[in-house]
Amino acid sequence: MRDYEPYYTQDGSIGLYSYADKDVFHSKFGALTEAWEKFVIPSGLNDINKNNIKVLDICYGIGYNTKALMSFYIQNYKKVKNNFIKIYFIKLLNIVSIGVNKILRKKARKLLLYNDTIDDNKKIIIDCLEINPELVKLSPFFKTIKTFDEVFDLFVPGIFNCFESYYKLKKAFSKIYKYFQPKNRKEINELLEIKFKEMTLDKEYKIHPYVNYILINILFDLLEEEFIKEDLNKIVYKKENRSFFDNSLIKYAKFNNFWGYNSSSKLNLSTFLHNIYYCYLSFRDKNINFKTAQSLFNVNFYVNDARKTILDLNEQYDCIFLDAFTYTKAPQLWSMEFIAELYKRLAPTGVLLTYSNSVQVRNTLLENKFYVGKIYNEKLNKFVGTIASKDKSKIKYPLNSYEIGLCNTKAGIPYHDPNLSFSNKDILELREYEYKHSNLMSSSKYIKTRGK
Ligand SMILES: C[S@@+](CC[C@H](N)C(=O)[O-])C[C@H]1O[C@@H](n2cnc3c(N)ncnc32)[C@H](O)[C@@H]1O
Repeated sequence: MRDYEPYYTQDGSIGLYSYADKDVFHSKFGALTEAWEKFVIPSGLNDINKNNIKVLDICYGIGYNTKALMSFYIQNYKKVKNNFIKIYFIKLLNIVSIGVNKILRKKARKLLLYNDTIDDNKKIIIDCLEINPELVKLSPFFKTIKTFDEVFDLFVPGIFNCFESYYKLKKAFSKIYKYFQPKNRKEINELLEIKFKEMTLDKEYKIHPYVNYILINILFDLLEEEFIKEDLNKIVYKKENRSFFDNSLIKYAKFNNFWGYNSSSKLNLSTFLHNIYYCYLSFRDKNINFKTAQSLFNVNFYVNDARKTILDLNEQYDCIFLDAFTYTKAPQLWSMEFIAELYKRLAPTGVLLTYSNSVQVRNTLLENKFYVGKIYNEKLNKFVGTIASKDKSKIKYPLNSYEIGLCNTKAGIPYHDPNLSFSNKDILELREYEYKHSNLMSSSKYIKTRGK
């Protein structure tokens, strides 16, 4: 990451600091927690009773929102029990495998038992839009979390787990834990006030181990030789970056690069090696095997300015994640014209979600004829983002009359980006001009007269 510096956020997941923007990509409270609480959970996608679910992830970055969504479906996957067929196959296998090594037979039987069938023709289609190819390529290699338990388990072997001394050791470790804090740049830690000791991540919010492997395979198909070549190699092996990347995923990519894509019979060989590699993964997981998980998703990457990509997409999405940089710094993906393109592409019962609570962003959505509401977080007992839909019933917490009034002040004046081609600077200047010449009430006057 030439232009970025990784850091640990407070839930233990990795965030990125951008030198160019002098800003962070992810909330200091937790990149992963934010993906779950502001995007995946409020999307309500678990309620959608249809075969193809289409999601648009605008500003994929290093992929937390897509990864959390994929994890959600893998964790909640319902297996169809087709016991009759399985028992029949196992019997057949026993007959044909007489004379074959006992362990092999056992393994093959296990494989069959976990070879679940897809319960319906469900497909989750995720279109990921991102302007920076480096981030897309690196995204599967990022470790997702580093919690207290993970750091502790690194130092204390599992064998201790059954003894009381494990807990005593753990208590002692908590006192010296801060010395094992990842070595981020001092100024980033100061900027974020990261308190490594307080890291907490809800158990359900983890990224499922299959997800990064599925993404690597997709990127291999997309990029072939280009993937994990010298430039990326330098980054993943750089000493100060090492603690942020997952070694086994890098090894897998290298393995695939060498065997899967450089060999003459690449298709056969890579499929073969791939299947062997995942046998053990499928035994580890009771809900779903790797092949089923892989076939559940259709992830597409569009590495370009989202304003250009959007014009080529003709889908109706059930859900749109809008995770652009803050509107005051990067207005291109918050303009009236860009949001209008999203309106056209949102299904009649679909939802658009964003972390932004801004009056201006909400007014831009209202002006585009969306119903607009707030995303409520039960745990924090506060509103953490904005939801928009063409379907009123999708909005559980609509804006109240005070908030709608605020949208009608100067603070709500939207950005304009005619032809979706203006620079950030031009868009900001155009709004500045409109703001100065507007007859609308200022937000401060509105707040004074209406009270809070
Ligand atoms: C706040 S970060 C998104 C974080 C991301 N969702 C994740 O999980 O890592 C914003 C992202 O928008 C990307 N971006 C900025 N301008 C863009 C544009 N015009 N089109 C597409 N992506 C853009 C940046 O490269 C950056 O990765």
